[in-house]
Amino acid sequence: MTVTDFEKRYEELKSLAENTLSFRFTESVPQKTLLESMRYSLLAGGKRVRPVIAMSFCEACGGRAEDALSFACGLEMLHTYSLIHDDLPCMDDDTLRRGKPTNHVVFGEWTAVLAGDSLLTAAFGEVLSAGLPDKALVSAGRELSEAAGYLGMCGGQFLDMDGENKTLSREDVEAIHVRKTAALIRAAARMGVIAGSGSDAQLDAASAYADAVGLAFQLRDDLLDISSTPEALGKSVGADAKNGKNTFVSLLGAEECRRRIALETEKAKRAVKDTFSDPGFLCELADMLAGREK
Ligand code: IPE
Ligand code: IPE
Ligand code: MG
Ligand code: MG
Ligand code: MG
Repeated sequence: MTVTDFEKRYEELKSLAENTLSFRFTESVPQKTLLESMRYSLLAGGKRVRPVIAMSFCEACGGRAEDALSFACGLEMLHTYSLIHDDLPCMDDDTLRRGKPTNHVVFGEWTAVLAGDSLLTAAFGEVLSAGLPDKALVSAGRELSEAAGYLGMCGGQFLDMDGENKTLSREDVEAIHVRKTAALIRAAARMGVIAGSGSDAQLDAASAYADAVGLAFQLRDDLLDISSTPEALGKSVGADAKNGKNTFVSLLGAEECRRRIALETEKAKRAVKDTFSDPGFLCELADMLAGREK
């Protein structure tokens, strides 16, 4: 199989983030098991989609990927926290994540809660340590806070849990997806534009792209939950049905879900076509995420 330029660049950006993350949380301290549990989940693999989105938007604005590296790593820390908490017995109660036993299975519940808390907090420290003008740090910090909190990801996670075993409408499910998943992807895109000193028009285009990609991303996640295997996915399958989750698949079926993914992916590509001089990578990224197998 030949590796395309897109795949090569994706791997380079992913490695850039992973290499930086591998140096984090290595202090010699009495709470060393806490640090071990943070690193366990953070360095367990994962697609690193949010870091790649942040760095590629920075590049699309004419910046260097490295300019967005701290934002990228902060985003991945925050995302990893959300996964640790999402897997807890009080939430989705999952035992497999990124191909390994979940954090609470290995370290116990209270350590997993604290590992999540610590990654969430460290994420903001990482963003604020970027070597960029203060104005950019303030903007990026605000983006992340809004996306991760009660109006964004946590809000979506609340609606997701609260909706278990209830009959929700298509609009209700979309409201969950937009918050629990698309919000952080939107922050990643916008933080990339901020790191690359992009224009207001580029910020708007990044939002439109990420809203569409973010929705498609969760739709694909819901599809894979009914069609993939734990080996391919690195996490359990059939978990949504088991937990009585409302998803697009359970509500509208797999075919309608696929149709919507294609629609959102075209929308995303249209959003960046005229606003960035070289939107090629962003378009290929949208296509890749739409058809991902894990
Ligand atoms: C899983 O996110 C949770 C969702 C928001 C659907 P990813 O699919 O990005 O998980 P990793 O980071 O690759 O493990
Ligand atoms: C969770 O969605 C999204 C998060 C904010 C963590 P899911 O519960 O569907 O994610 P997976 O399938 O466990 O990765
Ligand atoms: Mg969940
Ligand atoms: Mg889950
Ligand atoms: Mg899922």
